[in-house]
Amino acid sequence: MNCRPDLHFSPERGWINDPNGLIHFKGMYHLFFQFNPYSTRWGMMHWGHAVSRDMIDWQVLPIALTPSEEYELDEKGGCFSGSAIEKDGRLYLFYTGSVIRDGRTIQTQNMAFSDDGIHFEKHPDNPIISELPPGSSDHFRDPKVFCYDGAYFMVTGCSIDGDAAVFLFASEDLVDWDFRSVLFRGEHRHGTLMECPDLFRLGGKWILTGSPEHHPEGIRSLVLIGDFDADSGRFIEQGYMPADYGYEHYAAQSFESPDGRRISFAWMNEWEWMSTFAGFSKGPDDDWCGCLTMPREFSLVDGSLRMHPAKEATERFRDGWFSRTLELSPDAHRVGLPDGCWSIEVRYSESRMQSSDLMLALVDSSGLLVSMDLNPERGYATIMCRGRGPCVIPISRHAEHSLSVFFDHCALEVFIDGGERCASFMVYPSSEDLKLEARTPQKTAYADIAIRSLQ
Ligand code: FRU
Repeated sequence: MNCRPDLHFSPERGWINDPNGLIHFKGMYHLFFQFNPYSTRWGMMHWGHAVSRDMIDWQVLPIALTPSEEYELDEKGGCFSGSAIEKDGRLYLFYTGSVIRDGRTIQTQNMAFSDDGIHFEKHPDNPIISELPPGSSDHFRDPKVFCYDGAYFMVTGCSIDGDAAVFLFASEDLVDWDFRSVLFRGEHRHGTLMECPDLFRLGGKWILTGSPEHHPEGIRSLVLIGDFDADSGRFIEQGYMPADYGYEHYAAQSFESPDGRRISFAWMNEWEWMSTFAGFSKGPDDDWCGCLTMPREFSLVDGSLRMHPAKEATERFRDGWFSRTLELSPDAHRVGLPDGCWSIEVRYSESRMQSSDLMLALVDSSGLLVSMDLNPERGYATIMCRGRGPCVIPISRHAEHSLSVFFDHCALEVFIDGGERCASFMVYPSSEDLKLEARTPQKTAYADIAIRSLQ
């Protein structure tokens, strides 16, 4: 069965993990990604490269970064994650060179540049940052560079005394970088190591995101909301939440689109050390492994972060498959779903229901594949995918509730109440003929359900 997604970026062959270097440069969106072209397993990281006009249809370009230098040439290392920035018409990539020498991990920050956005030259002064900042463990990686108030800043992930932390560097010319400060330290509340940090402004606040290893609450993609004091180099945390409550959303990176939207992509998988790891699933005969989320747009509403799929993705679905107000009861109402890639929009108001409990299920020839139970009265939604434990998501009460589900062969993204909560999962059906079952455990309830197929 074909499990290659239509709208989620996946490599033509080989292995993908983190999205890297997201940028709109000279009229095109550029996506770079952690890539092993030689195997469907992680190893010797390259930067794969693709360009697009709409962040959905990607044209694959030659590999942008191949490990070739002493600071990055290693079977168990390579050109690790990083970011892109444009300066004076030139595209700059910042990445971590990672090698293991005499059993020790050595990670340095490096830069490559290009004028055409296709061919990259590694900077002769690499590594541009080779000294570990004070207190840092050997894990010092994933530079994200941004411009603020006329100065360039770089955040990198690290660990200080077993505590997830983020360093801040500053530069005037993108080549000479000064260590500024420990931007943020988790004080044992946010795991042991921060990977892929990202810092940006949104709706008058600063948002710091990152993927923590061994987070005590199991958070894979952390969002911290607060302020950034550029003078002291500190992030002042005012609250935090998971970016995504599902099992497969990691190493997210954001960038600003030309029309000012804050867009994010994440890797839809997770590492073996995570508690819900279920194997880097793929079809048995596939020569590729992994995919990214669809592009998502961030917004800040009443101080809390929301994410919803970018219009470039939602526009791909067309009305007409199914659209009705259903009277639900304890007996399941069954509707056939289009092949491969589709979306479901559900709207319901508590006033039209005798219980606020709405239960949806995706069923294939082997039975229950995914169950989604929304219970605003009790304050949570529970999503369960075949063979995996329940994922419990806190939700708030509203007069009107909504659920948007996007399924793309094997990639499932769920958005609750206008993106207040999101959850991503990799799910492998055993047949194409999926059905939606909708019911409510008590008496009757009304829900508007629209199913859309891919254009
Ligand atoms: C996150 C990560 C990064 C690292 C990259 C290596 O998934 O572990 O910290 O740069 O993957 O592929």
